[in-house]
Amino acid sequence: MKNINIAIDGPAGAGKSTIAKLAAKKLEFIYVDTGAMYRAIALHCLRNGLQADDKEGIVEAIKSANVSIKYVDCEQRVILNDENVNAYIRTEEVSKMTSSISVYKEVRAKLLELQRNIAKENCVIMDGRDIGSNVLPNAELKIYLTASVETRAMRRYKEQIEKGYEVNIEDIKKDIEDRDYRDSHREVAPLMVAEGATIIDSSDMTIEEVVDKIIMMVKNI
Ligand code: DC
Repeated sequence: MKNINIAIDGPAGAGKSTIAKLAAKKLEFIYVDTGAMYRAIALHCLRNGLQADDKEGIVEAIKSANVSIKYVDCEQRVILNDENVNAYIRTEEVSKMTSSISVYKEVRAKLLELQRNIAKENCVIMDGRDIGSNVLPNAELKIYLTASVETRAMRRYKEQIEKGYEVNIEDIKKDIEDRDYRDSHREVAPLMVAEGATIIDSSDMTIEEVVDKIIMMVKNI
């Protein structure tokens, strides 16, 4: 049977990973979080003491970053040079660095083949920024998942508070707006609504409603 590939793109905080993970479980597909791969590269650069604007240094440093992924109990583990780095890639510092270094074409080229190979061999739900437009332009289903900046900031705020962090909603909102701008205005593979993608605005939808909608769409492929 032919593999089915589902591409989910959208801005930070739209709920892509939560929704893609749940839908993948129901469909028995593999969930591929491409943001986590970019985050692993950013972590490698930070560990090498690099600044985001040091393009030359970053291009050189990524030569020694070997990124792969492994699945353990349906959970994706990002492996950076033989180390599981899942626990280190979700900090604000790594988030900012990731958004900044993912503008470089050399960084993107490093991950493109890995992402395409996983999709070639498996039924996948892959989420990111350029999946429908660039990584898997022939995906059987393309979704652009979005939500208002206010909704996304509030979701992130609650998440951080639950984790016990002291955060300010206005700072989070500003951070999200900056990331949206960088992700959608870069020259290489910017965040955009891919040709043929269905836009889902999750601002007033529950997680279950979005997942059910996607499952329905998969059934109609
Ligand atoms: O989805 P995320 O928040 O984990 O992604 C982190 C950053 O990685 C995001 O700011 C943009 C970048 N990214 C990208 O450029 N292309 C992708 N396919 C996935 C993520």
